[in-house]
Amino acid sequence: MKQNIEIKIVFEEYDNISELQNTDQELLKKAVEASGNAYAPYSEYYVGAAVLLGNGKIITGNNQENAAYPSGLCAERVAIYYASSQYPEEEILAIAITAKAKNFSIDTPVAPCGACRQVLAEYETRQNKSIRLLLMSDNGKIQIIKSVEDVLPLMFHANELKK
Ligand code: THU
Repeated sequence: MKQNIEIKIVFEEYDNISELQNTDQELLKKAVEASGNAYAPYSEYYVGAAVLLGNGKIITGNNQENAAYPSGLCAERVAIYYASSQYPEEEILAIAITAKAKNFSIDTPVAPCGACRQVLAEYETRQNKSIRLLLMSDNGKIQIIKSVEDVLPLMFHANELKK
């Protein structure tokens, strides 16, 4: 029998960074700072990511492009892979993501690409605790999503690899 299943997500939206708690403000500012060091000569689209760990440390990353385009890596994966490689025991509490483009202003918060969602989901599953996503656009609009699962419904889980 056919059934229509509906999946609904709820997230927060803010008009100004000053409305957020201090730790969230700081994390977003670190992401903005990190976008300034992006190596993105091909897209001229500069993404910054800042990861907050359970021990309070903030790890940042930015997109790294390459003349062989697919060899480049998104800011989110640069940051989260570094965080996990250096602090494998620490929980990942949140990731802030921002972007700047050379030739236009970004009016809507930038959400992680599908591949980054899958990678973030791996760590969320591993630690069995949600990773919050904090997204901000140039004009200061912010979206806060409470877990990676919310932006990757019906995700592929490691437990599907074995029976
Ligand atoms: N990019 C990121 O770093 N994160 C995203 O979530 C979306 C895209 C980078 C990849 C590439 O260097 C540039 O932005 C344009 O796609």
